[in-house]
Amino acid sequence: MDLIYLDNAATSFPRPDCVADAVSDWVRSGAAAGRGTHQGAAAANELLRSCRTEIAALAGAESAQHVVLTSGCTESLNIVIQGLLQQGDHVIASRLDHNSVLRPLQHLQQSRNITFELLDFDPLNGLLDIQQLQLLLERTPTRLVVLNHGSNVLGTVQPVAELARVAQQAGALTLVDAAQTAGHEELNFTTASFDFMALAGHKGIPGPLGTGALCIRPDCEQLLQPLILGGTGTESESLLQPLQCPARFESGNRNIPGIAGLLAAAEWIREQTPAVLRSRLQQHSAELWQGLRAIAGVQLLTPDTPENFCGAIAFQLKGLDCHDAAVILEQEFQIQCRAGLHCAPLLHVALGLQERSGSLRFSPGPMTTSTEIQLAVKAVAELSENLP
Ligand SMILES: Cc1ncc(COP(=O)(O)O)c(C=O)c1O
Repeated sequence: MDLIYLDNAATSFPRPDCVADAVSDWVRSGAAAGRGTHQGAAAANELLRSCRTEIAALAGAESAQHVVLTSGCTESLNIVIQGLLQQGDHVIASRLDHNSVLRPLQHLQQSRNITFELLDFDPLNGLLDIQQLQLLLERTPTRLVVLNHGSNVLGTVQPVAELARVAQQAGALTLVDAAQTAGHEELNFTTASFDFMALAGHKGIPGPLGTGALCIRPDCEQLLQPLILGGTGTESESLLQPLQCPARFESGNRNIPGIAGLLAAAEWIREQTPAVLRSRLQQHSAELWQGLRAIAGVQLLTPDTPENFCGAIAFQLKGLDCHDAAVILEQEFQIQCRAGLHCAPLLHVALGLQERSGSLRFSPGPMTTSTEIQLAVKAVAELSENLP
């Protein structure tokens, strides 16, 4: 039996051939960007320019120059959280957030004396509490609101434009974590007036691991202090870090082979169209959800809101530890999925699950087929039949 990969929320697999070809072509022939006048360097510069343009189009960002190419969504989030926040600043994030948001905040609480509060979500629909956001904003002047766009555990997609409007009315900046949604959900960076948006290049956008991006609203670039300083191949006569995007945040050689793959992946998304990919992903998620719900031993954590699914379905099998279940699913049914806390410990605490070591997660991706979804549901049914 062929392998069924359902861990796309971690990273997408398989990737379209054009992605592997682009990486391989660059490794065989490519040079560094911004560091020479020869044709190889010019081609690398052009690659970076094209990739920024393609990602800007996908994110709905007007300025491609304000797309910073990063090593992933974690770096993008850190550029904003650590680059922006100063002594005494207040932040609102949420219990849905990934450790790539929670850990930098916790670190800054200790090192810069920032404070942060966490929004709750409703376990019945997975949505953040907008009224609570309003109340928290009224109570404490807030520098930044971090908005989780798609939960990597529940799969729920938040109405981030609406939440951001509330934050902006209170004078807070907004950072959208679009790790799980870039590639299939509408991002509308400029029209929704977000200030910062962090993207992964290797999940919904099926680029190579170690790729991502950060969109910055042009008038916000000077609010961020760069985390890493160094050579950018520009303004080399000065010992000062360039002030403007993208060089301000892109010191050192970029991962050009990865970016070649990211560009190919983003072009592939444009050709497929995010709308088509979204509807396929929703269909797969809904099929999984309905199939799993019908199985006696399954306890679903993903709420019953198919219109909000973005590709992750979390559940538990009664009487079986989720890590053991993941091992059995791989060994006996060739299904690769994920078990544990998925770097979202507070979400599991909110659901009262941490002591049970988290959840099982099936996450289909852009290349998943309906047959694979049916086989996965059948496997869980068989597995739960044999449970005590
Ligand atoms: C919601 C969320 N934010 C951030 C990240 C970190 O992304 P990356 O792996 O690109 O650093 C992830 C990764 O799974 C995620 O699911």
